[in-house]
Amino acid sequence: MPGFVLAIDQGTTSSRAILFDRNMKIAGIGQKEFTQHYPASGWVEHDPEDIWKSVVATCRQALRKGGVKAGDVAAIGITNQRETVVVWDKATGEPIHNAIVWQDRRTASFCARLKKDGLEPKFTRKTGLLLDPYFSGTKLRWLLDHVKGARRRAEKGELLAGTIDSFLIWRLTGGAIHATDATNASRTLLFDIEKNAWDDELLEILDIPRALLPEVKDCADDFGVTEKSILGASVPILGVAGDQHAATIGQACFEPGMMKSTYGTGCFAVLNTGSDIVRSKNRLLTTIAYRLDGKTTYALEGSIFVAGAAVQWLRDGIKVIGKASDSGGLAEKADPEQEVYLVPAFVGLGAPHWDAHARGAIYGLTRNSGPAEFARAALESVAYQTRDLLDATKKDWKGGGKTVLRVDGGMVASDWTMQRLADILDAPVDRPTILETTALGAAWLAGSKAGVWPDAKKFAKSWALDRRFEPKMDAATRKRKLAGWRDAVRRTLS
Ligand code: G3P
Repeated sequence: MPGFVLAIDQGTTSSRAILFDRNMKIAGIGQKEFTQHYPASGWVEHDPEDIWKSVVATCRQALRKGGVKAGDVAAIGITNQRETVVVWDKATGEPIHNAIVWQDRRTASFCARLKKDGLEPKFTRKTGLLLDPYFSGTKLRWLLDHVKGARRRAEKGELLAGTIDSFLIWRLTGGAIHATDATNASRTLLFDIEKNAWDDELLEILDIPRALLPEVKDCADDFGVTEKSILGASVPILGVAGDQHAATIGQACFEPGMMKSTYGTGCFAVLNTGSDIVRSKNRLLTTIAYRLDGKTTYALEGSIFVAGAAVQWLRDGIKVIGKASDSGGLAEKADPEQEVYLVPAFVGLGAPHWDAHARGAIYGLTRNSGPAEFARAALESVAYQTRDLLDATKKDWKGGGKTVLRVDGGMVASDWTMQRLADILDAPVDRPTILETTALGAAWLAGSKAGVWPDAKKFAKSWALDRRFEPKMDAATRKRKLAGWRDAVRRTLS
């Protein structure tokens, strides 16, 4: 019986495919970056064909590296950048436009209008989200309104829409299956998270024909089989979850009160709240953590748009480092006497401010400020933003104070950054031995459904600690630094 599991991790800046063996060990990895398109200020697009080609190429690469044939793969799990939306032709599979990416702000004024009309409470009550351009719904409406003939074709049933998972499922199954999972659906502004169904009233407000949307399934479910020609054999797709939800699973945060924070392009902190739909009073999101066997587990989420992207900016924007892994070493050399703050509102600010119009700013520069102070300010901005999320979580959720944060994503490899995070949070930070938690979560969904991987309980036992970072900073320094950060944010808000 084939025992390998292939996880497709389709992220914001690159696609990855990770092949796991029966013992949940990595057997092969494929990775490919693709082009980001910025057609106007605040706009971000991806070419869906680039995404598709990179996914196929990385899957083949991972299989090749593992010395494994597709016929030896028991199941595929898909995890993906969330909210990014694609519309394609039902007959040909051809996208009608570039995908509009989660970071894209083009619908900011439309969201503001909906808010002005007093509609935010309705959207929040049903979807757990806020009226921010971050989510898919207003982007989808934009595509229907701005691509020539799109609305007419959508009404005639000629088009399909979905988040990246749906697009990949459609392509991988040769157009046989149009489906998504409950976590991805919960990020669209169109899905009632309590009823677990697309909401007709919200669809009407946003003027989106229901027939465009995929069927919503559990995270571990039957999503069809891949067309033989793509990988060389038909492989069942048995797991799907948005990347932050997959990371929550990969971090084995299965119990209420467990929390993870993933540092990718952005940073997303997710607290498992069990079967309770906790309504945030502090501008966090209520979302579906995962849905298994028809049972929904909910979460509170804090979303920050720029985390690893700030390190990319150090590397590609102001070019003070050659590679991302140099950032911690450079930050360590910064002058402790200088208080430099970067508010990385490059695409506005997410939780808890939700200010789509804010733009990045840097404060406290002196004649002596240089690359090291910029690097420290960028890395510290991630810690400060996480602190803001944790403070909001503590206020929203009764058990929040006792939570230990499990971290993952590219940035957590830096000891300096993780120590600074623990210092600013004034709370311990746990880094697991496996940092590929997003792919692992998707693989677990597929592997457990296929019966080749253990159940949730046994899987949770396999989570292992690499290192716990305990706070070391003295209280007065922390207080002074936090006051400086809050002042910088206040000055940056639009
Ligand atoms: O909500 C956006 C998120 O899913 C993107 O994740 O890892 O590409 O920062 P990432």
